[in-house]
Amino acid sequence: MHGFHFILLLLAIGLIVLSIWDLTQKGHSVLRTYPVIGHFRYILEGLGVYLRQFFYARDREELPFNRAERTWIYRAAKDSDTTVGFGSTRDRRPLGSIYFVDAPFPLLGRDVVKTRPVTFGPQCENPYTTCSLINISAMSYGAISENAILALARGAKMAGCWLNTGEGGISSFHLESGCDLVAQIGTAKYGFRDAEGNLSDEKLKEAAAFPQIKMFEIKLSQGAKPGKGGLLPAVKVTPDIAKIRGIPAYQDSVSPNRFPEIASSGELLDFIYRVRSVTGKPTGFKTVLGDYEWLHDLFKEINKRGIESAPDFITLDGAEGGTGAGPMSLMDYMGLPIAESLPTLIDLLVEYKLRDRIKVIASGKLVTPSMIVWALCVGADFINSARGFMFSLGCIQALQCNLNTCPTGIATHNTWLMRGLDPENKAVRVFHYVKNLEYEVGTICHSCGVHEPRELQRSHVRIVTQNGTSVSLEDIYPDKAKKPK
Ligand SMILES: Cc1cc2nc3c(=O)[nH]c(=O)nc-3n(C[C@H](O)[C@H](O)[C@H](O)COP(=O)(O)O)c2cc1C
Repeated sequence: MHGFHFILLLLAIGLIVLSIWDLTQKGHSVLRTYPVIGHFRYILEGLGVYLRQFFYARDREELPFNRAERTWIYRAAKDSDTTVGFGSTRDRRPLGSIYFVDAPFPLLGRDVVKTRPVTFGPQCENPYTTCSLINISAMSYGAISENAILALARGAKMAGCWLNTGEGGISSFHLESGCDLVAQIGTAKYGFRDAEGNLSDEKLKEAAAFPQIKMFEIKLSQGAKPGKGGLLPAVKVTPDIAKIRGIPAYQDSVSPNRFPEIASSGELLDFIYRVRSVTGKPTGFKTVLGDYEWLHDLFKEINKRGIESAPDFITLDGAEGGTGAGPMSLMDYMGLPIAESLPTLIDLLVEYKLRDRIKVIASGKLVTPSMIVWALCVGADFINSARGFMFSLGCIQALQCNLNTCPTGIATHNTWLMRGLDPENKAVRVFHYVKNLEYEVGTICHSCGVHEPRELQRSHVRIVTQNGTSVSLEDIYPDKAKKPK
């Protein structure tokens, strides 16, 4: 028989077998009714994600980040030209969009305005002083690969910003470059717990002994999944990751949904006190806000105990935050967006006279200069980003962080996929991303006529309202927040 005919025969047999299987299986109605041809539905559905991105989605259309935002980050990370021509593609028709207020006479002759140094925990044995405005948010070794961490850590070292370890503990990949680190203590206390799962002073001291570890962050919650603990699917719990966390390999790593030992404001302050006194380093907590009443309770308790009992910082994550893996219902509906929670937190700090004592780090899609400037206007002292830095590493928003199949080698431990991410090359992109963000934030400050990004005020933001006129952000959230200069 001719080779071609043989192939045709094999194909025909294959199709007959597939038709019989489709007609007799019970799991998929479409295939039972439309044998063979029904498979195209599943193939096209799978391809749709990619086709939409390349051919159909408009520049400002996709979520969580649209192509215009991603392209700006890719260009900034490659240190290529970030300017655009002709005019803005941002749709200005929807009402409610924000605009910055330019000064009639902008600052002369300098596009970049420098950030002044800020000190966390000046009363601590080892306070932390930094000029870094934009920093790398928590992503655990586990959620992201060793190559991704190496690239982030080396880039952070070059850029002079800090890298938050995330809740998976401290790995050699975090430490290697010598960049500033914020060690996160998650609800499972990975890397900081004894054999019974309790917080271990010994482990805290071991961590604090690394000069790179500048601060400790207690993670109460994160924006993408308030009320749910960290979740690392079994496929991503490699023996190395399991060893650092002190758990069995290739079993789901599920953190408790809150610290068993923190059930009140008082217990939170006790916990902060313990971490800070054992480590001698500034200690704060990360949270997403929902119930504001709790903040009144916490701030009253701080004032009762004395200002030294306060956390050295609060990292406020917006409900729009990302995650390695989390339930969609929490991602979509739980917690308050940063646009509401940030001004409220700042105002309450002012009300309780804690504004100078507690630094505020904001996160939640603050990945482009304009969004960072908005947060600074509202009152943030520092900005954290996770996904902005993932894009700088080459993330293509494949939305597979939970599957170990990340095609860009960031959120996977598959050695072939991870090999695609060269830490040396991508570290330079992380560096450029930070520097270009700082540059363009500085450019906006320059247009607004302020000498320092933290001098930006709510009066620098105007919001277009229903009838087409605009109001100052200050009219909506009166600026109790005037920041110390
Ligand atoms: C892959 C991935 C892993 C994350 N892991 C952690 C974590 O270990 N601890 C934590 O507090 N937040 C974690 N987050 C949340 C981020 O730190 C950040 O708060 C959130 O994504 C908002 O910032 P973004 O909008 O710039 O991404 C993770 C986010 C991503 C995307």
